[in-house]
Amino acid sequence: MPHVRPFFAVKTNSDPVFLRLLALLGFSFDCATEGEIRYVLKAGGDPKNIIFAHVIKPPGALQYAASVGVELMTFDCKEELLKIHKYFPEARLVLRIVAEDVECSYDLRDKFGCEVEEAEEILSFAKTLDLNVIGVSFHVGGLCKNPNSYAATIRASREVFNTAKQLGFHFTMLDIGGGFLGDKNSEGLFHEISSVIRSALKENFPDPDIEIIAEPGTYFVCSAVTLTTAICGKKERNSHCKTMNGMNPVRRFYYVNDSIYGSFYRGVELYGCAMKPFLSDEELQRRPTYNSNVWGQTCCAEDLLAKEQQLPDLEEGEFILWENMGAYNQVLCSAFCGVPFPATRYVFVNNSRFNLEWISNVEEVSDFLSKTCSLVAKE
Ligand SMILES: Cc1ncc(COP(=O)(O)O)c(C=O)c1O
Repeated sequence: MPHVRPFFAVKTNSDPVFLRLLALLGFSFDCATEGEIRYVLKAGGDPKNIIFAHVIKPPGALQYAASVGVELMTFDCKEELLKIHKYFPEARLVLRIVAEDVECSYDLRDKFGCEVEEAEEILSFAKTLDLNVIGVSFHVGGLCKNPNSYAATIRASREVFNTAKQLGFHFTMLDIGGGFLGDKNSEGLFHEISSVIRSALKENFPDPDIEIIAEPGTYFVCSAVTLTTAICGKKERNSHCKTMNGMNPVRRFYYVNDSIYGSFYRGVELYGCAMKPFLSDEELQRRPTYNSNVWGQTCCAEDLLAKEQQLPDLEEGEFILWENMGAYNQVLCSAFCGVPFPATRYVFVNNSRFNLEWISNVEEVSDFLSKTCSLVAKE
């Protein structure tokens, strides 16, 4: 989507090194709270490249946004307009509408966005307050599987643009939100969705003066993180042990140094997490496999990370890797039961698909990477 400017959704992963890298690359950011704005500014992000994308903002956060020059923000109701009028009347505002034809894993429609039918009344109210509304935003929900959800909501956004024009507004921005998958297996669906978005934009927003932005989170970070867990204990279970379903006895229990209250808060399936024992191919072939459970470290009986999986025989001290762990994991980690947060190691994998040409400050970026990351070359 070459014409869509991404604002990375900081809520997905607010790792300071990652944010600093994005800031150095000149990225834009979607911040949901004052706290996230502070993270981005600390990382060197430009306030002009931030959208404050929460439709309800505390008065103090609006005053803070005004003080640091974060002018772009979303809203979806008249009440919020009154607050913005009081605390930051110069803000540039984007009206969030609910998405159409939704098919996703996290539906955001109950909490955020107005109906298209309400837009006229809300925009008329903005006019009476003399506020600067410049466009429309939406979010189709997390992990969207339906390309038409974007197409249908882009069409609905066009209707709101038309209404706004009749009311005397000059809209210049459409924000198509997030919802894109980001695990290593979802590239095909991403290409399908982006092709549908391109057509819908061409049909409904052909004017090149309208800036199209997006707020992807998951898409950028999901596959960027691989979690390593160490096996801190193992239980071999003989065939007399009671089984969960009577048919398929679980012969190995492994206990690892993380938990569903730590890195696995959102479970393993949702974001396409893939579990891999950290063994050479030779070892993988040599070792017998057993039906196994991988349990988290806490005392909670529900702290089960992988249930009835066929795994090679593993030993205490060996590692299990979990891919696609970068979205909504580190940010939700708690230290329940005193299980410590995982340490972060940064690895920059330089491969032939990586194109340096578009980076104008390539020396500064390289310098930062060489100070913070282990560098790995891979074809
Ligand atoms: C307003 C807003 N923008 C962006 C995002 C990021 O969405 P995703 O991780 O699906 O790309 C969210 C997620 O809830 C959101 O609420």
